[in-house]
Amino acid sequence: MITQRPRGTQDWYGSNMHKRTVIEEAARKLCKLYNIKEIITPAFEHTILFERGVGETTDVVQKEMYTFLDKGERSITLKPEGTAGAVRAYLENSLYAESQPTKLFYITQAFRYENPQSGRLRQHHQFGVEFFGSASPLAEVELITLLKEFMKELGLTGVNLHINSIGCKNCRKTYNEELLKFIREHEESLCGTCKERMTKNPLRVLDCKVPGCKEIMKDAPRTIDYLDDECKEHFEELQNLLNSMEIDFEVDSGIVRGLDYYTKTVFEFVNKDGFTLCGGGRYDSLINEVDKKHDIPAVGFGFGIERIINELEATGVNLPAEAAVDLYVGILGKEAKAPAYKIVKSLREAGLIVETDYLDRSVKAQMKYANKIGARYTVIIGADELTEKKVNVKNMDTGQQTEVSIDGIAKVIE
Ligand code: HAM
Repeated sequence: MITQRPRGTQDWYGSNMHKRTVIEEAARKLCKLYNIKEIITPAFEHTILFERGVGETTDVVQKEMYTFLDKGERSITLKPEGTAGAVRAYLENSLYAESQPTKLFYITQAFRYENPQSGRLRQHHQFGVEFFGSASPLAEVELITLLKEFMKELGLTGVNLHINSIGCKNCRKTYNEELLKFIREHEESLCGTCKERMTKNPLRVLDCKVPGCKEIMKDAPRTIDYLDDECKEHFEELQNLLNSMEIDFEVDSGIVRGLDYYTKTVFEFVNKDGFTLCGGGRYDSLINEVDKKHDIPAVGFGFGIERIINELEATGVNLPAEAAVDLYVGILGKEAKAPAYKIVKSLREAGLIVETDYLDRSVKAQMKYANKIGARYTVIIGADELTEKKVNVKNMDTGQQTEVSIDGIAKVIE
């Protein structure tokens, strides 16, 4: 037990860690081009933020949150997603008072008590962007364009964009009535949770994962048929913009998303098996629900980093390999230790990836080790080399040796 990590978590090291670094670097590089600034919010927040933000009738809040009382008897929750914390930070730090829009990205861990299975973890990681202050569908297009570029950069192909509109509070009035009518007709066959949620929030019945409920709800009325003029216009403009950007998409009226804050646009990027890798959408009412003093439109997405890694593996995409060790500096004799280590330090200062001996190994064992770690070049430094100030740098690929002055080592490494 003591050497076993909790279910649904993973340790990051080796090639998986490297993949995660490459993914995060690609995200950071793109966000810089899109002028999206990084934000880091706490790993935990007051529970009420998620109850209010994500929604009390969602699976995330009802079944999946890591909630506990801290020593001061405050109810605290480990963040199950990144949006609510970003919204809280946007409000608390008056970021709305700066020139708008505000575009923020985060790379965060998120905690959900889910049934661990492939692609579902209890601690997962997301690359997310939240775009505050624009009611225009161009904000959606900005995020979708960024996501397409991000996937292109990583070599992720075969991932399709699905979009839908779930309307606003205004459309929801008529829609909810129609949906409830439909649900009541099938109430007997629905699961307990659906029966409980149907009057409070009928939309949540649509994303129930119980197969029987899913089957029934396939024929339920769709939000897209109940949009008011403004929401209809917004959705049409979005589609026109995507078309003019030559971004392929499919209107999927079945997308409702599992979080309560969405209004108008919702979207997902799904792989060829229909598995969602990235989800997002507009949430124009959330800021007002969190703080009545403000009414600011927003849109965002969250992309699961573990899901990207799984998808890259499943589709046979190799990310660029980790940089190799440029040079292994072998140490011959105790006397050479300090001067050799000074050389190691100066070569690292010159930008080379350098390794050396910390185990007092024989020269033969050091060279075996250098070979094992894939060092591109090796050099041995002992009393003779230090007196003559000359060394032999060996190219491990070709076996070729070059004699150079100690100061000239870096020049030999290509
Ligand atoms: P979400 O769809 O719940 O949305 O999660 C976003 C992404 O996080 C998913 O598409 C998936 O890749 C990954 N993910 C979620 N749960 C897990 C899990 N248990 N294990 C592994 N990966 C997971 C949100 O979280 C919203 N905050 C997205 C958003 C931002 N909407 C607007 N702004």
